[in-house]
Amino acid sequence: MAEESTRRSGLKPVDRRTFLRYGLIGATSAGLGGFAVASLGFLWPRLGDGFFGETAVGDAEELAATIQNERAPQRMEGGLSVIVWDPSISGADRVYGEHHQAILSDEVGLMALNSGSCPHLGCGVPWCQSSQWFECPCHGSRYNRLGEWQFGPAPRGLDRWPSFIDDEGQLVVDFGDLQTGPARTANILEQNPEGPSCVDA
Ligand code: FES
Repeated sequence: MAEESTRRSGLKPVDRRTFLRYGLIGATSAGLGGFAVASLGFLWPRLGDGFFGETAVGDAEELAATIQNERAPQRMEGGLSVIVWDPSISGADRVYGEHHQAILSDEVGLMALNSGSCPHLGCGVPWCQSSQWFECPCHGSRYNRLGEWQFGPAPRGLDRWPSFIDDEGQLVVDFGDLQTGPARTANILEQNPEGPSCVDA
């Protein structure tokens, strides 16, 4: 009966070995394809998803107060972490002053870090409250509170977007102009970890 219907459809019968071979090739291709898609998703930098061009992200005074009270960056969409920095620290203005002009006072400025894409291979880089550092869970790169490289395979500090404060007191971040993070040698903050690491636990 099966032979008869095969003849009628004009198809050659497939023997068991051929069937298994094609099945194995199909399964392997599907597996490799899935892995490639997952890897691309993992590696693809998440640069300001949802934000484009110059975008007001919040009241600058309120952001600074919240960051200081909580001792934590304000994390927002697209990997944005807003941090407070001190422009009066020696060397800070030279390294960061050109692009980060969201300055509230001599000692308080805001800066927009890209913590959504580690400069090593693109993982998101969470904030670790106990160490007061950014710590990448993928391969252990660590960055101080200013996003400056401290340890691990990353080639530099966290990348960052230029920012300024507009006439209405809003922090405006320019998502169209991502700046490469500071070189490994830039360690303006000289901040040791302030407690246990989150990635060693
Ligand atoms: S992706 Fe962050 S250390 Fe590798």
